[in-house]
Amino acid sequence: MESDNRPRQEEGKRQEEGKRQRVRANMVNVFIMGKRHVVPEHATIMRAIEYAGHQIIRGAGCREGFCGACGTLYRLPGDYKLHTGLACTTLVKEGMSLTQIPAVPMEKAIYDVEKLRPDVNTILEVYPVAARCVACNTCSKACPQQLQVMDYVQAGLRGDIALVADLSFDCVACGLCALRCPAEIIPHEIGILSKRLFGRHLRKESRELDERIREVRAGKFDAEYDELMVMGKDSLNKLYYGRDMEP
Ligand code: SF4
Ligand code: SF4
Ligand code: FES
Repeated sequence: MESDNRPRQEEGKRQEEGKRQRVRANMVNVFIMGKRHVVPEHATIMRAIEYAGHQIIRGAGCREGFCGACGTLYRLPGDYKLHTGLACTTLVKEGMSLTQIPAVPMEKAIYDVEKLRPDVNTILEVYPVAARCVACNTCSKACPQQLQVMDYVQAGLRGDIALVADLSFDCVACGLCALRCPAEIIPHEIGILSKRLFGRHLRKESRELDERIREVRAGKFDAEYDELMVMGKDSLNKLYYGRDMEP
């Protein structure tokens, strides 16, 4: 009786194909949600996901590291750590195993910033969970913006609202710190609340800002705004990238 060799032949073909793909120049193997894909070696995680055939419907916004929509978890071969990063700015590496997180669940706190005082009682009233902080620094290690997240949470617990606003200024609200916090705190919510409190109650008066607000309210920029609203993508890009940047 003849044996059926087909399964072995199929497996052999699969292995050959695997080898062929691995040696293809300028490509790397990545595992996207558990499935291996061969993608360009200099791709960002976001580009690699799209190259692999996925359409990103949630979890992409600015694609330039500003909006925080694309938080991602990944592991690298031989490294026990669970890494965090933004999919639009983190490059793929050989053997990377990744999952992009479309959103980090959180409950919206409702408050009227006009009626709140800029102190620790407000932080604890709006986000009582903040008191659970054990100062482990896991949040800072997870932050793709390299912010001192634990320091600003602790500053909030001391009522130093100005320091929280300062330390959390560059937060993009990706939520990766919240995903990793063992105390279930959502640090960036404390940052956002503090920035609002600072802006409403603690900021020094600025004549320039007040003047600009008056101009906006008086409609000084309405014509320019209307022009922007009907401008094509190319013209908007040109304007955006050609804008004056602070050094
Ligand atoms: S503080 Fe948290 S939410 Fe803000 S950028 Fe860092 S990890 Fe993301
Ligand atoms: S990870 Fe959570 S508990 Fe640890 S320092 Fe940050 S906020 Fe505090
Ligand atoms: S898409 Fe905006 S930060 Fe990645």
